[in-house]
Amino acid sequence: PESCSLIPEAWRFDCYPERSVVVTEEMCHQRNCCFIQVSKAGSPEQNGVPWCFYPPDFPSYELAAISKTETGYSGKLIRLQKTYYPNDIETLQLDVLYESNSRLRVTDPAKQRYEVPIDVPVVKEKAPDPLYTVEFSKKPFGMVVKRKQNSAVLLNTTVAPLFYADQFLQMSSSLPSDFVYGLGEHRSNFLHDVQWNTLTMWARDAAPELTNLYGVHPFYLLMEPNGLAHGSFLLNSNAMDVVLQPAPALTWRTIGGILDLYIFLGPDPGSVIGEYLEVVGKPAMPPYWALGYHLCRWGYDSSNNTWDVVRAMRNYGIPQDVQWNDIDYMDRALDFTIDPVKFSTLPDLVKDLHIHNQRYVMILDPGISSTQPAGSYLPFEEGIKQGIFINKSSGDTLIGKVWPGLTAFPDFSNPDTHEWWYQNLKKFHDKVPFDGLWIDMNEPSNFFDGSIDGCPSNDLENPPYTPGVLGGSLRAKTVCASARQKITSHYNLHNLFGLMEAKASARYALKKILGKRPFVISRSTFPSQGVHSGHWLGDNRSKWKDLYMSIPGMLTFNLLGIPLVGADICGFSDTTTEELCVRWTQLGAFYPFTRNHNTKESKAQDPTVFSPAAQTAMKEALLLRYSLFPFLYTLFHHAHLSGQTVARPLFFEFPTDQKTYVIDKQFLWGKSLLVTPVLDPGVDYVVGYLPQGLWYDFYTVCPSTINHTAGDSIVSKGEEVKLRAPLDKINVHLREGSIIPTQRPNTTLWVSSGQPLRLIVCLTEEGLAEGDLFWDDGEALDTYETDQYAYITFRLKEHSHWLTLLNAVILLAPS
Ligand code: GLC
Repeated sequence: PESCSLIPEAWRFDCYPERSVVVTEEMCHQRNCCFIQVSKAGSPEQNGVPWCFYPPDFPSYELAAISKTETGYSGKLIRLQKTYYPNDIETLQLDVLYESNSRLRVTDPAKQRYEVPIDVPVVKEKAPDPLYTVEFSKKPFGMVVKRKQNSAVLLNTTVAPLFYADQFLQMSSSLPSDFVYGLGEHRSNFLHDVQWNTLTMWARDAAPELTNLYGVHPFYLLMEPNGLAHGSFLLNSNAMDVVLQPAPALTWRTIGGILDLYIFLGPDPGSVIGEYLEVVGKPAMPPYWALGYHLCRWGYDSSNNTWDVVRAMRNYGIPQDVQWNDIDYMDRALDFTIDPVKFSTLPDLVKDLHIHNQRYVMILDPGISSTQPAGSYLPFEEGIKQGIFINKSSGDTLIGKVWPGLTAFPDFSNPDTHEWWYQNLKKFHDKVPFDGLWIDMNEPSNFFDGSIDGCPSNDLENPPYTPGVLGGSLRAKTVCASARQKITSHYNLHNLFGLMEAKASARYALKKILGKRPFVISRSTFPSQGVHSGHWLGDNRSKWKDLYMSIPGMLTFNLLGIPLVGADICGFSDTTTEELCVRWTQLGAFYPFTRNHNTKESKAQDPTVFSPAAQTAMKEALLLRYSLFPFLYTLFHHAHLSGQTVARPLFFEFPTDQKTYVIDKQFLWGKSLLVTPVLDPGVDYVVGYLPQGLWYDFYTVCPSTINHTAGDSIVSKGEEVKLRAPLDKINVHLREGSIIPTQRPNTTLWVSSGQPLRLIVCLTEEGLAEGDLFWDDGEALDTYETDQYAYITFRLKEHSHWLTLLNAVILLAPS
């Protein structure tokens, strides 16, 4: 019909998203949709335009009733005509909750279906002065949310029909711009492409490519045309596609749970993140040593080899706070064991690390070997007795395969599993007094698809619609979707495995064992992960491209409330080069979490194996990081307290400068420290953007830290500048008006923290500067919450020659 051809290509919403078929006119008409074929040789914008799309009058829900409540509105939606997916929910309840002046929630309060088991705030009163207005359309049902201040439309669901079938839930909205960020975990530029870009979310063990990856985060931040920002979060843990199209518009398409949508009105980007983390939880304060340099590899092959590296690092005076081991420390890759021959000196190594104020972290995988001789491997035998493993839908233990061979998988949705995990960790800690945990393979990864004997055939294994997951089915390289966990099916809980394991590890086990702030780094993540762990960006490669991609990855996880993040420095797989590894160590010195790690096939890549010049460059980069520790630690305090980002995109501080919206080769620490790394081989300069204002060259204002020729301080109009960047230099600039607390660096943060503090004061042209410092014992639990800290703000006015302590709260308890 003519109404079909009137719909511009950018506004066509896909009526036939199934990937396994090429849609024909007949198939499309069976769904009562419009069919207009777009030539395959079309322009790049046309690639991806759906051929089969919803006509304007496609049946949807009707708003049958709506009334005001104490918290907003409550309504009833009905569907008179069924959709082409089975089990439509024909009557829906709708709650529109004005939760705060900057937070709106639209949800289904019926409690009839699976809901994500994370705690979110429950609000009893309607916000008094919301930044938004809400309008409804009745037939078909739709909602429009506007920013009161300028009537900008932030949500408009009238652009496409609403679906709410048992295994197919879909909601679309126009977007006020195409500046969309977040939606992890994916390998992409920081700014997402809206040219028909489908981002699939289903936790998956895969070396970063354009597929679903380890973590799942249905949250985006959007920059509106005038520099204001808002965010949106779909609280849903089922497999989903998030479709971006050039209208611009976004579609949430999920295959279970409920539609529970939050909108955060900012209005500045940093506030949006704070508001989001108000809902899912703010990041934990890490122990101080978590911010030091970590060294790891797969294939040290013995504790003595590991020890040799630690000693070499000490000999060269290269900072190192933490030594790690990968699965080779275990006896035949069995969790909670030590290789009795090759790692027999591991307990002594850990003792030696502790004597030198260093820490030890080792890996644990969730797969628990199920094939050891009776009586020889208690973690499995006791686990079976206690019923803590994931079961097949038939009720028997599901068996898959990971490093130790055949394995069962702990069900962390079961509180008994937390106790079992703790008991095993405790026993292991008695032998090897580790300080933190690396939890890997927790998507969970399985070398089989589903299990050793496949998966049954049912609606969970073969849903009517499968999002665009790598491998084409939900079971690909993980456990069966229909597997049974304590609280519901794996179909619902899959994406939460890493979160629940992190919670069991940090909040339950480590807190009890160590009595100090837990340190956990997890591969798989979900919203609220930052409360329990940090994250590393997985199995990258020793490639220049991967060096660059680590910046968008790091920035995205800062938006997602997991600021303790970094990539494997120098690259995980493939062999690094000296130049790449130097540049990577320089950039890595500014990852909030900084760890060098590689695979067992490649050559050693710790700093000590390179030429003296390379070693010196790496050492200087790390000393620079260590000198900035008081500043970095204070940024983590703000992340913990109010959900601020640590590593931050430039546009957070310059939201009205649109040139900053695409920048992902540079970033800030906090408000004021700008990092411009070299990301290409064979160059001795780098081009970077300096937002408007005065930028001080770090090495000029802080000459004694590192031996660099001073660069110029620059007054920028908001322009690109070419900066000198010989192999031994990473460019760092400080923003006018800031005071940065630093200290004389040393080879561990423990030693550094006893060194004199120093303030770097970067005056504005008017002669003003301010900054702050948070300080505590670095390891005790909840120091802020229990008033055992010092917090000092500084302000300087030139000519007064006095530094004013604006406010000093000093509550450190006597030790
Ligand atoms: C996974 C991890 C990697 C680790 C390896 C062996 O691939 O992502 O970091 O080295 O397993 O445990």
